Amino acid sequence: MTETAAKLLAWYDAHARDLPWRGIHDAYRTWVSETMLQQTRVDTVLSYYDRFLARFPDVSALAAAAEEDVLKMWEGLGYYRRARNLHRGAKQVMEEFGGEMPRTTEEIRRLHGVGDYTAGAIASIAYDLPVPAVDGNVIRVISRLKGIRENTGVPSVKRQITAEAAALVPEARPGDFNQALMDLGATVCVPGTPSCEKCPLCGMCDAYQEGDADELPVLPRREPPRPIDYDVCLIFSGGRVLMRQRTETMLQGLWVYPMFEEHREVDLLSEIIRRKLGLKAGEISFCADAKHVFTHQVWQMKLYTARVDKHAAAPAGWRFVTAEEMTSLTIPTAMKAAVKVVKEKL
Ligand code: ADE
Repeated sequence: MTETAAKLLAWYDAHARDLPWRGIHDAYRTWVSETMLQQTRVDTVLSYYDRFLARFPDVSALAAAAEEDVLKMWEGLGYYRRARNLHRGAKQVMEEFGGEMPRTTEEIRRLHGVGDYTAGAIASIAYDLPVPAVDGNVIRVISRLKGIRENTGVPSVKRQITAEAAALVPEARPGDFNQALMDLGATVCVPGTPSCEKCPLCGMCDAYQEGDADELPVLPRREPPRPIDYDVCLIFSGGRVLMRQRTETMLQGLWVYPMFEEHREVDLLSEIIRRKLGLKAGEISFCADAKHVFTHQVWQMKLYTARVDKHAAAPAGWRFVTAEEMTSLTIPTAMKAAVKVVKEKL
């Protein structure tokens, strides 16, 4: 093993974070944890991982579940496509792999939603295969360690980073090594100004020697999220409120209240409710502003309450639901302020 790997593993033995998905050799569990950990902080994942596995303890249980139930266990974690892919992938394991998790990196990579990172993580952590798992933390650590000063969003640069990581992964304890890189990136080799004085690798770090660790990695420039104005209408009928399950790619399968792009005066809102939903709404009143930031969009919402007749029929594709029914639906965090208003009113 390289000196780098040995030093990093020794550091890991002393400083590894104690996390529930460590020290297990179960590819399904690693698949679940690594999927949750993509784009989501460890602290947040901690409150979902055990609950998810208690409900879906193995791949056959997940494959047999209704998508509704899988989404419900993911409620609040965001990036719900990950949950839908995991569910589809579980079905794929049952149908294409005879119910056994695949055991090679290439086969794991064929599962729905599994990219190079997740395949490498599962292969190394669950099966001790000496392959790299390059996530954002690892990109940062390797860029600094190896002095890679080019834009990491460029495919050839990403390949170079992956090759550098691959050259470091030892035959012994590859899963620990990969997780050590992630931990180093999360706790020492952090974005901005890293804590080089605490780093086991600073003696071999190019950026440390050059004094430009705080400028690395060179990240691709991201477009700021696009602001979109919405009027969100909480339309009550007797003891129920109007909702629908989204079919759009964004937040697909999640339940929301009627929302209309742009902000309008109350009179125009009444008109659009009639035109789009076929409902005659009265008592329309503004109640709060709310905002939710997604990766590519910022929803700037004005919340309104309104009332329709208690015998009004829900328009096609919509349902009037009780507060009790709402608790069993998966509602995105973007609707959190709206949910609060609804619960107070119902
Ligand atoms: N981020 C992604 N995978 C991780 C892991 N296995 N441990 C800690 N942080 C992670």
